[in-house]
Amino acid sequence: MGAILAVVSQKGGVGKTTTAVNLAAAFARRGLKTLIVDVDPQGSVRYGAGLRQGHSTLGFADYLAGTVALRDVILPTSLPWLRVMLVGSVADNADHSDYSSEIAVGDLLPQMLAVARERCDIVVVDTPPGLGAVTRRVLECSDRVLVPLQCEPLVLQTTPQILRGIQSVVATHPALVFDGILLTMYEAGNAACERTAAHVRQHIPAKLLFDFTIPRSAAVSDAFSAGVPAVVRSPADPASQAYVNLATRLAERFRP
Ligand SMILES: Nc1ncnc2c1ncn2[C@@H]1O[C@H](COP(=O)(O)OP(=O)(O)O)[C@@H](O)[C@H]1O
Ligand SMILES: [Mg+2]
Repeated sequence: MGAILAVVSQKGGVGKTTTAVNLAAAFARRGLKTLIVDVDPQGSVRYGAGLRQGHSTLGFADYLAGTVALRDVILPTSLPWLRVMLVGSVADNADHSDYSSEIAVGDLLPQMLAVARERCDIVVVDTPPGLGAVTRRVLECSDRVLVPLQCEPLVLQTTPQILRGIQSVVATHPALVFDGILLTMYEAGNAACERTAAHVRQHIPAKLLFDFTIPRSAAVSDAFSAGVPAVVRSPADPASQAYVNLATRLAERFRP
């Protein structure tokens, strides 16, 4: 049975989707049967996961609405071991309230993840920013959680909030393992960034923090614009190598 790994953060724009997509691709390249599930109504996974041209845009929300079967929203990618479930057709009202409440009260998310975990070695779930109803529900169904943190001064204010939130979920779901905080978009030589990273290392216990960072790299954003994970498009790039390294570390922990 596979593991479910949620990628969660307090804020948007911190590299959550980038992490989810590159990590999933790195797992797949190790030969692990991997599914990335997008439950963020913003639906960014669609643009960077290496989906084939002319792919379906249906996804989890369509499955929730009962208009498609699960097998029809599992999409192939350029990597044989990587499949994608997009978020699909989320109604465009500002707060996506129908989608969120359907997930919060219904059983379809746990059911879908239970099926996914039976068929895959690893299921990576990309979540909306914050700890709203959707993300909480994902955490309740997950085995592990990873928190990307962008190296910028504001993280010092938002980090305690997300850690408290995750602790409160772990309190009721003790099986959930906190895999750690991953510093993203690290720029060596940028004083503010280096200060932030040093501050985070001082204030967060070492066992909760990965001892390497994901460097800021044009190859990462360029790959996303080109529609493929950086670990596939630019495997020699330092950021890609950091994601491969992360996949190695995590895969070691997943082994029973
Ligand atoms: N390591 C990186 N180097 C350069 N750009 C990055 C890196 N990680 C993320 N980005 C860029 O930052 C922006 C936000 O990243 P994204 O993964 O979409 O964040 P989130 O999912 O948390 O909103 C995107 O434009 C993405 O291409
Ligand atoms: Mg995102």
